[in-house]
Parts: sequence; structure tokens; C-alpha cells
Amino acid sequence: LACGEVGDGRFAEPAEIAFQVESYFKNFGKWAGKKVLVTAGPTREAIDPVRFISNESSGKMGYALAQAALNRGAEVTLVTGPTRIAPPSGVKVVPVSTAQGMHKAVLKALPKSDIVVMAAAVADYRVLNPSKSKIKKTNGELSLRLTRNPDILGDILRRKKTSQKVVGFAAETDDLRRNAAEKWKRKPCDLLVANRVGGRKGAFNSDENELLVFARGRVEPLVLKRDLKSRLADRIMDMIEG
Ligand code: C5P
Repeated sequence: LACGEVGDGRFAEPAEIAFQVESYFKNFGKWAGKKVLVTAGPTREAIDPVRFISNESSGKMGYALAQAALNRGAEVTLVTGPTRIAPPSGVKVVPVSTAQGMHKAVLKALPKSDIVVMAAAVADYRVLNPSKSKIKKTNGELSLRLTRNPDILGDILRRKKTSQKVVGFAAETDDLRRNAAEKWKRKPCDLLVANRVGGRKGAFNSDENELLVFARGRVEPLVLKRDLKSRLADRIMDMIEG
């Protein structure tokens, strides 16, 4: 730890350790035998062999959700885009890079999953014809043509069995409640978890978050005040349990 702040081997915050111990004993074995699929992190869409389009997602919320499911004794598959954090030990990690790669991995794991939590920040667009060699600079402007990526969550909602529960996420910079409510209509998951991104208190890259959770049978979304992502992940698991 050259800087003392980040890196392998950094000791977790005491509050985080205390919470994990509490969560493990409180929820011990509740989800034994259940299979949980979690997606996390950003995707990368190639421009050329050395450049890509991506986003600021750190993967922390998705990894916290995977840990929370693990604490309940579930068998957890974590389909993750590239992140700088270590996955919880005990999960089956499926590393992917692009939205198309994530789509394939998720569809493969879907039939045997009881619960699917889609926390990944999937790129909505990819570069239409990525260059096979590094693009050289010229004096003029450079345009990239983008094409839509598959909507993984949309596909899951179309294919899922009624017994399978699906949690979607909404990351918004503005009008969180209105945009998330609209998304929930378009993507009617069992739970839709909305969080604010961008700005100083945005969800990306922070250890904390603040959520609005839309759930079937609730008129108004539940407000989960600013807290550690691990605690919020545990609350989401409680809501999945119903
Ligand atoms: O429609 P929107 O992208 O805002 O919805 C967000 C939710 O959909 C998240 O759960 C995200 O993981 C998922 N998503 C997806 N495939 C995409 C885009 C988003 O599964 N191409």
C-alpha cells in the first residue's frame, strides 16, 4: 500500500467488519440451496485494440449484493465487468468485458438461478465497427458510429419463469424518482433499486449509497437513507425475501 489508502491488503473499515459479522450470524443459512446471479461493474466497448468507451461504475454495490447473498448461504454467481476491487471470496466469478459478453454469460446462468440481481452499469451503445488497429490521429474531427447494445434486463424479464425473482437498477443523474418510476413501468422487475450517480455524493465509486426501492404492492418507493453499501445490500435482500 504505497499510498496507505487503496490496494490489496488494506484493512477493511471496522464498521464494515462488524456489519459483515452481524449479517453472517443474523442471516445464517436462510438462503441455503438458493442460486443467486448478480451482475456488477461497468462494461467496456472497444473503439480500437487499445481504447474503449465505458463508465464510472466501481462494482462496489454489485459486490456488496453478492456478499449479502453469500452471507445468507446462497450459491452466488457474479458476472462482472472490469473493476479494481476484489470479488467476495466464495462466489463463482464470471469475468466479462463487453455488454454482449455479459448478455451471453447472464443468459447461460439464468435457467438455474432463483434470484437475479442486475446491478451492472451496462453500456447502452457500442462502437459499430471497432478498428482492428490503433486509430491514428489526423487534423480533422473523428466520429464514431454507435449501435444499441442488447438490453440484458429486458431479455431476462421476457424469458424468466414466474418463480424467478429479478431485481433491476436505475442509475440517474436527475429526477431520480420520476425517471426510476418510468423505468419500472418499462422494466417491471420484482424490485427496482434507484440511485443517483454523478456529482460528489453519487453512487459510483463510493462505499455509501442512498436508494429508492420500488417494489410490487407498494404505491410509493421505499427510501433507504445514506448508509454503507453493505447495509443497503442486506436491506435489499430482506425485501427480496418479502
Ligand atoms: O434502461 P436502463 O439501462 O436505465 O435500465 C437499467 C437496468 O437495466 C439495470 O439493472 C442494468 O443492469 C440493466 N441494463 C441491461 N442491459 C442494458 C442496459 C441496462 O441489463 N443494455
